[in-house]
Amino acid sequence: MPRYLMLRTPSANRVYAGESGPLTVAELEITAPFAREVSDVELAGVSYLGFEADALGEAHLEAVARQSACFALFEAEGDLLRPVALPRAFVMDDDLVTIPKYQGKTNEQFTQLLLGVTLASVTREPNGPRQILDPLAGRGTTLSTALLLGNDAHGVEGDAKSFEQMASFYKTYLRRKRIRHTADVHPVRRDGKAIGKRFDAELQTEAGRLTLTSFTGDTRTSRDLFGKKKFDAIVTDAPYGVAHGATTDVRGTSGRRDRSPAGLLREAIPVWASQLMHGGALGLSWNTFGLTREDLASLLTDAGLTVREGGPWERFAHRVDSSIKRDLMVAVKP
Ligand SMILES: C[S@@+](CC[C@H](N)C(=O)[O-])C[C@H]1O[C@@H](n2cnc3c(N)ncnc32)[C@H](O)[C@@H]1O
Repeated sequence: MPRYLMLRTPSANRVYAGESGPLTVAELEITAPFAREVSDVELAGVSYLGFEADALGEAHLEAVARQSACFALFEAEGDLLRPVALPRAFVMDDDLVTIPKYQGKTNEQFTQLLLGVTLASVTREPNGPRQILDPLAGRGTTLSTALLLGNDAHGVEGDAKSFEQMASFYKTYLRRKRIRHTADVHPVRRDGKAIGKRFDAELQTEAGRLTLTSFTGDTRTSRDLFGKKKFDAIVTDAPYGVAHGATTDVRGTSGRRDRSPAGLLREAIPVWASQLMHGGALGLSWNTFGLTREDLASLLTDAGLTVREGGPWERFAHRVDSSIKRDLMVAVKP
């Protein structure tokens, strides 16, 4: 059986503090089930992600191209490496997600990994672009990554400033790149009163027309903001419960001065679960210093979701800094 070696982007080890090996192995096992004997391989001092597979068809090559750390693919022939051409993974330039730089930004490579393993768990057949929601959208790393991979993107963000910065970045970016689009911010009114804002964009990409809708508001009101709309996948990087200057990144936890994101997740997860289509999946990354894996799994189970466990699903925990050990969990709505 042919053996393949995937070269990772040089930045992969910086993202995961030297632990990119196990994470990218787990990602490939979940998102490319045709790959067997997946392992970290070192060759002449360079590390690769190795796997065996029958001859790779178009869908297989696409799955490899979408690996969050994929840089190049080779087929190993004895001591020689033969380059294998990969299709383009993104439907637009990836600077959509790499240009914005700010404190609190979720790493774009990790965001792609989280989105990939969540979408791999969706069992519902698509009938157009997948509908993705990030209910803690920040300045939009998940939204942009979702669009790059050819999906429609939707968001909710509690910090009005982050929302404004995201909207103005998109407007400038789409204009400068000469991408055919519409993009506007409108007030959201309830009973005649302005309760927040929404940003709506439509853009022409290589994959056809994609839409982006994002609201300001508390994530626990996400269902009220989107009404009857349901999502194929909800993908989010939860607040870490660490201080950014004088404030924490958790907003409005029931009025208590609670620095832990656990209170927020307890109230938000049932709302998010109700916004998922049957056969859809929720993928969440969080700081394990504030909430154990077992406790998060119970919150998801109590909301009627089935947590994906065992094997590669238990190999994503990694250190971000001294106060953050990040892990991810995916749960499916039966
Ligand atoms: C870890 S950050 C996500 C960052 C985002 N992925 C990005 O790269 O821009 C968590 C976000 O949740 C937002 N947040 C915290 N509590 C919230 C709440 N109750 N409702 C809505 N957003 C909230 C914070 O303002 C922050 O932007």
